[in-house]
Amino acid sequence: MDNRPIPFNRSSIAGRELDYIAEAIAGGQIAGDQTFSRKCQALLEQALGVRRALVTTSCTHALEMAALLLDIRPGDEVIVPAFTFVSTANAFVLRGARPVFCDVRGDTLNLDERLIPGLITNRTRAIVPVHYAGVACAMDEINACAVRHGVAVVEDNAHGLFGRYKGRWLGSLGALATQSFHETKNITCGEGGALLINDPQFAERAEVIREKGTNRARFFRGQVDKYSWVDLGSSYVMSDVLAAFLYAQLERSGVIQAQRQTIWERYQSELALWCNQHGVRQPVVPPECQQAWHMYYLLMPSLERRQGLIAHLKDRGIMGVFHYLPLNQSAYAREHFGDAAPCPVAQDASDRLIRLPFYNGLTPSDQARVIDAVRTFRS
Ligand SMILES: Cc1ncc(COP(=O)(O)O)c(C=O)c1O
Repeated sequence: MDNRPIPFNRSSIAGRELDYIAEAIAGGQIAGDQTFSRKCQALLEQALGVRRALVTTSCTHALEMAALLLDIRPGDEVIVPAFTFVSTANAFVLRGARPVFCDVRGDTLNLDERLIPGLITNRTRAIVPVHYAGVACAMDEINACAVRHGVAVVEDNAHGLFGRYKGRWLGSLGALATQSFHETKNITCGEGGALLINDPQFAERAEVIREKGTNRARFFRGQVDKYSWVDLGSSYVMSDVLAAFLYAQLERSGVIQAQRQTIWERYQSELALWCNQHGVRQPVVPPECQQAWHMYYLLMPSLERRQGLIAHLKDRGIMGVFHYLPLNQSAYAREHFGDAAPCPVAQDASDRLIRLPFYNGLTPSDQARVIDAVRTFRS
């Protein structure tokens, strides 16, 4: 039996990453906001049709910038899915907000738009939809609800770069949106992110917040003769060494997305029969969503069978992983925000979900090994 390890994720070079890094260093441009950062931002603005894109040190930091831009204060409430990464909530909690956990839909595992109106209070300031696995949330309903109640929408689009909803790019649908370029994402620079700005009222202040609360960007454009402390802020600027890597990946996004589509579709078709026979649910992509091919997951019939499949794959050198522990059940949320209303769908997904190896360089023969290993799982 071939037991060579197949990791869950492995990063790879997509094009001219090393050339561009050498170019940035040779040109003396290793701090932030230089040629490659500007190229990344222009490419994102053009590709997604967003008014402004600012590359950042991470998606977490882009979310923190969103919380600062919205002037989130102690006592404010922010509606977040219970089934998401910690940062979706933590960025707002850092400003003193109370996270209001919303359960997710059984099909896409996205924020359940039908539950949001019941969670709005006069303290609600924002709704943060996460396009889980790069499949869009029901943005028409979410945006309509936000407009009715005068609250902001911040898309946490960590998974969804180049996914679409009714033909519109994810990241272009909220007042603000955030991207992740962490190594597990389709397009990466190791650690990195971006803040996308659709509502123009945030554009100028976002530059200041990202530059430690200074008007340094205006100074470099010659719009002020010195720069100084003008607002709250922190150090959210990405180094141009990373931006050089990122730009090479963004340039190859068509190839990367096509590779990932092939891998995703193969899992979906070659596991369909086995899933049917064993009560395993495959991902659902509603017709109005053009997904971003970010991950491939299965929902096993029970926690025991999910754990069994992880162990079965591990015996064959293959790494399958699970996530997320529902945020409403986390130690931090329980201690600071009390016992939240149950989110049974999030809990169920957390118990039963397994993610299969999925990365740009996954070879057809390694993917065949993963598929064969899954199909031989009985318990
Ligand atoms: C939904 C979601 N939001 C935010 C993040 C944080 O991204 P980063 O690691 O770039 O801060 C992640 C990380 O995987 C995520 O999955």
